[in-house]
Amino acid sequence: MARIKIAVIIGSTRAARFADKPARWIYDIASQRDDMTVEILDLRDYPMPFFDEVASNAWVPSENEVAQRWQKKVAEFDAYIFVTAEYNRSIPAVLKNALDYAYPEWNRKPVAAVGYGSVGAARAVEQLRLMAIELQMAPIRTGVHIQGADFMAVWKAGKEIADLPYLRQNAADMLDQLVWWTRALKTAREQPLLLDAA
Ligand SMILES: Cc1cc2nc3c(=O)[nH]c(=O)nc-3n(C[C@H](O)[C@H](O)[C@H](O)COP(=O)(O)O)c2cc1C
Repeated sequence: MARIKIAVIIGSTRAARFADKPARWIYDIASQRDDMTVEILDLRDYPMPFFDEVASNAWVPSENEVAQRWQKKVAEFDAYIFVTAEYNRSIPAVLKNALDYAYPEWNRKPVAAVGYGSVGAARAVEQLRLMAIELQMAPIRTGVHIQGADFMAVWKAGKEIADLPYLRQNAADMLDQLVWWTRALKTAREQPLLLDAA
């Protein structure tokens, strides 16, 4: 069966970010599988202003050139893994902005999340799932949450995420579910959509 195309999207852009560690970790695990190809998308490479278009690109094409480049890139993938911190109990604003800057490109595709923080960004990931519904995405059940003492050990005490073996099984479960939903939705997207005729 053909490999699915997955983007790992790094949801934090600040200079001192922790995000690179979980992004690289999930990228390494996903790229060892033979059912997917994986690419890291770094929002630092897409420095979009806070949303400043006349409308969502669901209705009006965006004028900002970086936004256009972002939309084209997002469209290349079958599914997404967001690597997200929790900023004041939600996802970082830069990630919300990047979500707002595309619409048809996200539609009818599945989304998974790797969260990190005191509670593994669980609250942010739940909010991300609600946003995904409005973007007509399918949020999958299992997420990876690097949390509590484990997060602190990696953040401050030099431990590696790979030193936490239970997370590897957790990631495998998440990726298995992501593959199932990606194949199901890819097949479904090839069928005529009754909603479009309404
Ligand atoms: C503005 C801000 C708000 C934060 N709010 C939370 C929070 O609500 N929950 C949490 O677990 N950690 C919170 N933190 C701590 C982050 O988990 C920690 O700084 C993490 O490294 C942020 O991800 P990043 O380094 O990839 O940007 C916050 C950090 C910042 C900078």
